[in-house]
Amino acid sequence: MNAKNASAKKSASQAVVTFVDTPNKRSFEFPIIKGTIGPDVIDVRKLYAETGYFTYDPGYTSTGSCESQITYIDGDEGILLYRGYPIEDLAEHSTFMDVCYLLLYGELPTQEQHAKFEHDITYHTMLNEQINYFFRGFRRDSHPMAIMCGVVGALSAFYHDSTDITNPRHRMVASYRLIAKMPTIAAMAYKYSQGQPFIYPRNDLGFSENFLHMMFATPCETYDINPVLSQAMRRIFILHADHEQNASTSTVRLAGSSGANPYACIAAGIASLWGPAHGGANEAVLNMLGEIGSTNRIKEYVDKAKDPKDAFRLMGFGHRVYKSYDPRAKVLQAECHKVLKELGITDEPLLDLAMELEQIALSEPYFIEKKLYPNVDFYSGIILRAMGVPTSMFTALFALARTVGWVAQWNEMIEDPTQKIGRPRQLFTGEPERKYVPLDRRK
Ligand code: ACO
Repeated sequence: MNAKNASAKKSASQAVVTFVDTPNKRSFEFPIIKGTIGPDVIDVRKLYAETGYFTYDPGYTSTGSCESQITYIDGDEGILLYRGYPIEDLAEHSTFMDVCYLLLYGELPTQEQHAKFEHDITYHTMLNEQINYFFRGFRRDSHPMAIMCGVVGALSAFYHDSTDITNPRHRMVASYRLIAKMPTIAAMAYKYSQGQPFIYPRNDLGFSENFLHMMFATPCETYDINPVLSQAMRRIFILHADHEQNASTSTVRLAGSSGANPYACIAAGIASLWGPAHGGANEAVLNMLGEIGSTNRIKEYVDKAKDPKDAFRLMGFGHRVYKSYDPRAKVLQAECHKVLKELGITDEPLLDLAMELEQIALSEPYFIEKKLYPNVDFYSGIILRAMGVPTSMFTALFALARTVGWVAQWNEMIEDPTQKIGRPRQLFTGEPERKYVPLDRRK
């Protein structure tokens, strides 16, 4: 599934950086590798062998963990490109299937390729019927993300024919299955928590429409799909489809680097996404807006966020990479207004609260100095809530949209001839070797 665009390859430049080890009066040179855009990297792969030093970068703030041709972010300018295409253009014009194909194969599909891909994904949406019984082992009030971690991890027990990661055909089948089945699993997790029967996928519907159908239809009643809502769902899926080497994607790559099967790797990605500092933030934003309750309490919460002694943070604000407005948040802010208008919601206190909070936070020196802007999670929750999606499902939707990014990155990693098991080292600050003391002599 390599990108066809060979011109977009890295080039090792002649440039080097010199590392001077003053205490030992030695100096070393390390090559600089240039990408097509974005910061160049210092190739430190031989650093330890040549110098005896490791690099130290907890949280990987200055570390490029891999070479990739999939997604590019310019955090200062607020630019996000999938395979070179701006996210705004894809959100405006593309189908989600277009974007999935683009992320997986590196090029937008022709009409014929699009039709085949959509057909292949559609005809993988149903789950093995035995998986229904697996669901029944969960408590009825389980969080959908807990169910997603478990069920997706368990897929490897149901689909043995696609777990040989050295076989490109197996990898392709597993990738299609994951993209296709994730909406079914997410909707089933919701239905299970509601005590409602599972709704099977319908092959006459598009990806977003099918998800809405599986979420909201019941055996007693069809769900009339509003095109404005399915359009918003399509945009949410596209905006969340990939985001280069974020925590969950890095988790998928790290899990996969040991040769683990794809279903286990994606389950690991789901677990990482769940955290409130990552995908769990969309749920946390709504909980926070609910807690703030009214506009006259905004100042109190902004002050709490600014207080270094208070652990509270404004959820949906700040990003490791974006130091300007997250381009995905801009698209979603506009989408939010469209959805509320379509649904005739003229008075949505949470939206009013969110917009005022955004204005106040953006004019506060604390947020300006630290370059904290709304991120993708700030508006997505309000849209989803207006559509009738419960808060506990927000991160599950994020996971289903991000699955294509995870599998694209996982495939790219396996096809990379330089790929090795991911194995960071550490700065050890514990006890050096000491003598064992038997229990009866310990004080
Ligand atoms: N509210 C208040 N202060 C904040 C916030 C916030 N939301 N985010 C960062 N800060 C402050 C920190 O306290 C820190 O201040 P300091 O330098 O005085 O210690 C400074 O800004 C830098 O923050 P870090 O945590 O060092 O930045 P990092 O890049 O590690 O974290 C993160 C990024 C996790 C997204 C952070 O901004 C955050 O917790 N935001 C809220 C949660 C959220 O919305 N997550 C969703 C991210 S998008 C996604 O994953 C899809």
